[in-house]
This record gives sequence, C-alpha cells and structure tokens, in this order.
Amino acid sequence: MNSQAYNDKVVRQFSIMTVVWGIVGMLVGVIIAAQLMWPALNFDLPWLSYARLRPLHTNAVIFAFGGSALMATAFYVVQRTCHARLFSDGLAAFVFWGWQLIIVAAAVTLPLGLTQGKEYAELIWPIDIAIALVWVAFAVVFFGTIAKRTVKHIYVANWFYGAFILTVALLHIVNSLAIPTSLTHSYPVYAGAVDAMVQWWYGHNAVGFFLTAGFLGMMYYFVPKQAERPIYSYRLSVVHFWALISIYMWAGPHHLHYSAVPDWAQSLGMVFSLILLAPSWGGMINGIMTLSGAWHKLRNDPILKFMIVSLSFYGMSTFEGPMMSIKTVNSLSHFTDWTIGHVHSGALGWVAMMTVGALYCLIPRLYGRTSMYSVKLIDIHFWTTTIGVVLYIAAMWIAGVMQGLMWRATNDDGTLTYTFIESLNATYPYYFVRLLGGVLVLGGMFIMAYNTWKTATDKGAVDNPVLEPSPAT
Ligand code: HEM
Ligand code: HEM
Repeated sequence: MNSQAYNDKVVRQFSIMTVVWGIVGMLVGVIIAAQLMWPALNFDLPWLSYARLRPLHTNAVIFAFGGSALMATAFYVVQRTCHARLFSDGLAAFVFWGWQLIIVAAAVTLPLGLTQGKEYAELIWPIDIAIALVWVAFAVVFFGTIAKRTVKHIYVANWFYGAFILTVALLHIVNSLAIPTSLTHSYPVYAGAVDAMVQWWYGHNAVGFFLTAGFLGMMYYFVPKQAERPIYSYRLSVVHFWALISIYMWAGPHHLHYSAVPDWAQSLGMVFSLILLAPSWGGMINGIMTLSGAWHKLRNDPILKFMIVSLSFYGMSTFEGPMMSIKTVNSLSHFTDWTIGHVHSGALGWVAMMTVGALYCLIPRLYGRTSMYSVKLIDIHFWTTTIGVVLYIAAMWIAGVMQGLMWRATNDDGTLTYTFIESLNATYPYYFVRLLGGVLVLGGMFIMAYNTWKTATDKGAVDNPVLEPSPAT
C-alpha cells in the first residue's frame, strides 16, 4: 500500500504540535525551577505564581506534549501495521482540533487559578467533559482502524496503544465525576479517604498507562524500525503486555503511605509495586536487546542513541519506583525532591527521549525525505538532553536524600537537629544545578524545532544514507 492511501495529515499536525508543546511545557518547567531559586520571579502577579504555573507545567508536558506525541504515533502506527487508512478522516481532524482547543483552554484557566485541585486532574468540569468527548472520538478512530485492517495480525504496539486509550478513558471519567456548582466550580462526588484512593488510582495509572503503556507502544514500533531489526522477542512482548497491564492497576496506594487509607491497602500497593519491576524490566530488555547483533549502529545513529538511553532511563525509574514504594524507604523519600528526581528520570529520561527519538524517525517520512535536515544537530540535541537530564535527576536525588535525612535527624534530647529553613538553604545549590539541566534540555528542544522546520521546508535538505528508512511494514 503506498503512502497516498494513508491519512498522514493528522500525523503531521500532531507531530509539529508535539515539538511546539514540548517547548512551551519545558519552558514553564524552567520558569518554575527558577522560581524555586528566586521566588521574586513571580513578580507578585497571581497568574505567574508558582502554585498556578506548576500545574500548567505538568499539564503541558504530560497532556499537550506527551498526548500529542501519543496521538501522532498511534495514528501513524495503526495505519502502517494494519495496512489500512484511518477509520474516519473527519473524526481524526476532530480529535486534533479538539485536543488543541482543550490545551489552550487549560493554558488559560490554570494561570487564572481555576482548578479542581486534584493533581494531574486539575482542569475544571467543562474541560473534563470536552476531554471525554475527544477521547472517545480518538478511541473510535483507533479501534475502527484496527477493525478495518487488511492483515490478520494485530501488532503488539497496537495492544499497548489500545490499552492506553481504553484505560485513560476509564480513569478520566471515574476520577472526574463531580457535581457542578457553577460554570467554573464543582465538588467531587467522592469524599475523604475514598476521594484520595480514587485520585491515586487515577494518578498512578496515568503514569502506568499515559506515561508508560502508550510510550511502550511507541517503543515497540519505532525501535525495531530504526534499528531495522525485528523485536528481540515477540513472545516476551506479549507476556510483557499482559503482566504490565494487570499489575499496574493495583499499585496506586503507594502514593498514600502513612495516610488515612487502610494499612492493608497501603501494603497491597507496595507489594504490587515490587512485582511491577519484573514486567517493566522485561519490556526494557526486549527493547534494548533488539539491537543485539547491531550494536555498531549506536556509533553513528543519534536517533537510536535517544531510544536506547530512553530505555535505560525507563529501567532506572522502574527500579527506583518499586524501591520508593517500600514503606520504610517512602518514609524518607516522600515530600522530598527524591520524588521529583524519580518523576523526571521517568518523564524526561524515558518519555521525552523516546518521543524525540520516535519523532526524528517519523518526521522525515512525513515529509518524503530519507532523513532529518541535519543529523549533526540530532547528535547535538542528544548530548544536550542527556547531560541535562543527568544534571537534573542527580541533583534531585542528592537533594532529596539530604532533605529526608535532615528532617528526621534528632538531638539526644529528642528535639530536631535542623530547622526546615536550614534544609531549604542546603538545597539551593541543587536547585541551581537542576535549573541548568532544565535549560540544556529546553535548548535541545529549540534545536529540534529548527531541524524540523528545515526538514519540512528546505529544498536542499541533506539526505543521510545511514538513516534510510526500512521498507514500510
Ligand atoms: C526542561 C525540562 C523540565 C524542567 C526544567 C522541569 C521542572 C519541573 C519543576 C521545577 C517541577 C516542580 C518540582 C517541585 O514542585 O518541587 C516539576 C514537576 C513535574 N514535572 Fe517537570 N520539568 C521538565 C520536564 C518535564 C517533562 C518532559 C515531564 C513529563 C513528560 C515533566 C513532568 C513533571 C511532573 C509529573 C511533575 C510533578 C511531580 C510531582 O508532583 O511529584 N517535567 N518539573
Ligand atoms: C515500576 C514502576 C514504578 C513504580 C513502582 C513507581 C513508584 C512510585 C512511588 C513509590 C512514588 C512516590 C510516591 C510518593 O511518595 O508520593 C512515585 C512517584 C511518581 N512516579 Fe513513579 N514509579 C514507577 C515508574 C514511574 C515511571 C516510569 C514514571 C514516569 C514516566 C513515574 C512517574 C511518577 C510520578 C509523576 C510520581 C509523582 C506523583 C506525585 O506525587 O505527584 N513513575 N512512583
């Protein structure tokens, strides 16, 4: 089937917006990182205050940047692996414009202080309803395309994308149930500990399905494609799928250790988190070993470097997560910057680097080229990002453990050794290193935007034979 038979317009639109929202979301990340060093940077304006910009950052990077990347690649992969055009061009356009409108609505309401106050589910109820509608349309386009496929097999990447789409619909609708009191305000239907349980069932599975299962779908298509080799073990990928989706669901209470949630539920969350290490590493190994016999490709292909380093960060954060879910470890790590380090080794190291790698593989194909405008610039992007992420997470790990130890240190008479302010003062140097790391990562995104722009528009783009695409599946 030739490329005319596919709807690549919506893929192009989502790909470009991924780069745009990546820059916006990370810029806000850099601003709040700077505010933590210099609080005066809020200029005494409420809409620039940390409390309002922080959820703007998380929503922009997860749902605008990550969401656009997932929609771009899901629409591309499902067409290529099913040998079928998208189920409906009209609905696909609705998904694109609807999602962009939702992002703009979020970018207006969050700085205005309009929020439901639930982490990663802050948006007010009318936007929640819009999300549900667009998401259902997304599901119809995706599963409709699977239904009209012209090949018998359903490639494993689609299983991961499918689980991500279904689960996020369920999580979003259940966690957002609320009784409106005005156009901008509502009360959740849940109360107290039940509300907390539902919120972190949502929150953890947002990590598990939005930030993990969807990106594993991306990984299962683009790593073999870029390496020009089949996935290391197809059987492992199927075991990986079923194990991951059945275990993730139960791990949420590790966000609520030492809270009013029943003790048994906390322990259950901890045990399931520990078990989660196995399927997570199964997936990481399957991705990395796809290069076995072709390791030399890492020498001159910066796109593969992005992907393999991303998988390494995935392995690191899914080792760290189970450790942090152990109650005694969590009593040290919770409330500290260790959590922030963990978040960004997953979110920047795994999610953002896989996205960038997949886009560098995808964008030239979308514009009929054999490679990006400049492979050298991809390499520079790779190094700025890698150094930036390492600076970010190493600084947060050290700061986090230091804070945890300072807060629990007591003198012989039982009084606290350090005041909170002393721990804050000790943290400033690490906040500076984190800011530096963030600036490097953001700088890399600007390089990517330039490279993308040139690839899409420059007539004299240089084709690089090393990065020639393999035949479409
Ligand atoms: C230039 C890159 C980035 C910078 C400088 C940055 C900076 C920050 C800062 C300063 C915070 C607040 C930390 C705190 O409250 O102590 C934060 C939180 C967060 N960021 Fe980022 N970030 C970046 C990229 C990303 C990306 C790409 C993602 C996701 C794909 C992400 C996801 C998150 C999440 C989920 C939180 C909330 C963590 C929590 O509540 O525990 N960040 N970020
Ligand atoms: C086996 C896999 C994982 C396990 C068991 C796990 C476990 C944990 C634990 C125990 C916490 C700290 C909870 C607290 O003290 O409040 C946490 C926080 C977090 N993790 Fe993970 N993690 C895993 C993988 C990941 C990955 C791959 C990502 C990102 C792509 C991620 C993103 C986050 C975020 C965003 C938070 C902060 C939530 C919040 O408080 O706002 N995790 N995780």
